[in-house]
Amino acid sequence: MKKDNTFSAQIKTIYKMLMALFSLFVVAGGGLVYYANNPTAFNFNSENKTVSTVPLEVDEDLIVDGIHIRTGLVDDQGLMVVVNNCTNCHSAKLVTQNRMNAERWNSTIKWMQETQNLWDLGKNQEIIVNYLVKNYPPKAKGRRMALSGIEWYELED
Ligand code: HEC
Repeated sequence: MKKDNTFSAQIKTIYKMLMALFSLFVVAGGGLVYYANNPTAFNFNSENKTVSTVPLEVDEDLIVDGIHIRTGLVDDQGLMVVVNNCTNCHSAKLVTQNRMNAERWNSTIKWMQETQNLWDLGKNQEIIVNYLVKNYPPKAKGRRMALSGIEWYELED
């Protein structure tokens, strides 16, 4: 029976060792899972620095030097009406690179309403067109205006 006793004692020792090993794995594994979910959990020497994951508020309607940064439009009366109605489908560049008088702005708007699903602008149309004509009027003509009121002198032989 002595031999049996040593054998079962050995089994017990191996069993205890395995259990110890197993619990080590459990603790280490648990720690790893916890660490994966809280990477800063074990940074004991860094004083509770809370890192905000919420992005800083960016001012969508920031205006610098009279320019609405997000769209590049000039800051003037009616700016936000233009931003809200004219930059949804295409870049504001398409608006600013086209310089027109009121009549042509109105007909461009009409054209977009008829063919591009632009909505009815109601009272805003006047605000928008006023803004556009004031800030994006037709460029000065390439040729100077005809001279007028000039006293020409006769060439003498
Ligand atoms: C519902 C969508 C939509 C809205 C809102 C919209 N547009 Fe357009 N607009 C278009 C489309 C589509 C085109 C054609 C784009 C192209 O040719 O690539 C266009 C073209 C233009 C053009 C160029 C026209 C040309 O002859 O080339 C101008 C200028 C313009 N839009 C100004 C405006 C202004 C000003 C507003 C605000 C009142 C406005 N858009 C709002 C859809 C829209």
